[in-house]
Amino acid sequence: MKQLVKYILPHGIVRLVQTRQERGYQRGRAAIQGKNASVPPIAHTALIDFVVSRGVDRTQAREGTMPEASLAFLASILVQYSDSSRGLRGLHVGNFLGISLTYLADVVRKIHAASLVVSVDPNLEHRGIQHPQDHVCSMLDHFGLSGNVMICCGFSHEKNVSNDGRNYLENYRLLESEEVEQKIAQEHAPHSVIENLKQLQVASFDFALIDGNHESAYVENELGKIYPLMRKGGFVFMDDVSEGWPMIKQVFENSNQSFYRSFEADGRVGVLEVL
Ligand SMILES: C[S@@+](CC[C@H](N)C(=O)[O-])C[C@H]1O[C@@H](n2cnc3c(N)ncnc32)[C@H](O)[C@@H]1O
Repeated sequence: MKQLVKYILPHGIVRLVQTRQERGYQRGRAAIQGKNASVPPIAHTALIDFVVSRGVDRTQAREGTMPEASLAFLASILVQYSDSSRGLRGLHVGNFLGISLTYLADVVRKIHAASLVVSVDPNLEHRGIQHPQDHVCSMLDHFGLSGNVMICCGFSHEKNVSNDGRNYLENYRLLESEEVEQKIAQEHAPHSVIENLKQLQVASFDFALIDGNHESAYVENELGKIYPLMRKGGFVFMDDVSEGWPMIKQVFENSNQSFYRSFEADGRVGVLEVL
């Protein structure tokens, strides 16, 4: 009988009925994904403890990493404003030990299992920790996120000196010119990663986090370079939009123009909406 009706009715009507039936499944899937999104994120302390168990100094891990409150603030924005019926795409600049990366990758994986985060970092010594990417890969594996993250080893834009030109282990001392020159000669990673992602026409990202080199002109440039890779209505998260980094705060405030609209801030991270 079903076959007979299908035969008699015009194809367009049959498609319409089938599409309506499919919508039920789609809603079910979205509800399941949405339910996963309400599962609490990985605890920040668990991430810190993990790298400490691998021999990383706890103070450096904590001080070099975004605080839990700010990551939770970003998670709430992602959960509230994301389309949970499809995998999300994120760009993450500056991963250090992988703490913000693992946290956010876990959040978007819970929104949709097919979510993917591309992480860009030159894997240089940072805060006395050599080869931070080893810790990142191990952490992603440990938390079952290896299939949700792609790591691009390199500088987001031009080459820059590591550690923001400071010695974080000596009370944040600014390095002398000769020390900087010496470092530059010894540090190597591919550069222009964002530009190259654009060349590959990789994706339109739903969100991006900027937490790499903290020179204000550099961050301004990153914002400009990232813009064509972003989905309109997506979000760019900037870390260190605070009194501690007044120049970064300035960049955030100046970005409220034609490409971006200032959306929210928590005193540490700033959120820009992509126009
Ligand atoms: C503050 S740490 C990132 C902390 C990380 N977002 C977290 O909260 O767990 C900065 C990282 O950016 C990296 N970095 C420096 N210059 C960069 C650049 N041009 N592109 C990408 N990453 C960069 C540093 O090597 C370091 O690993």
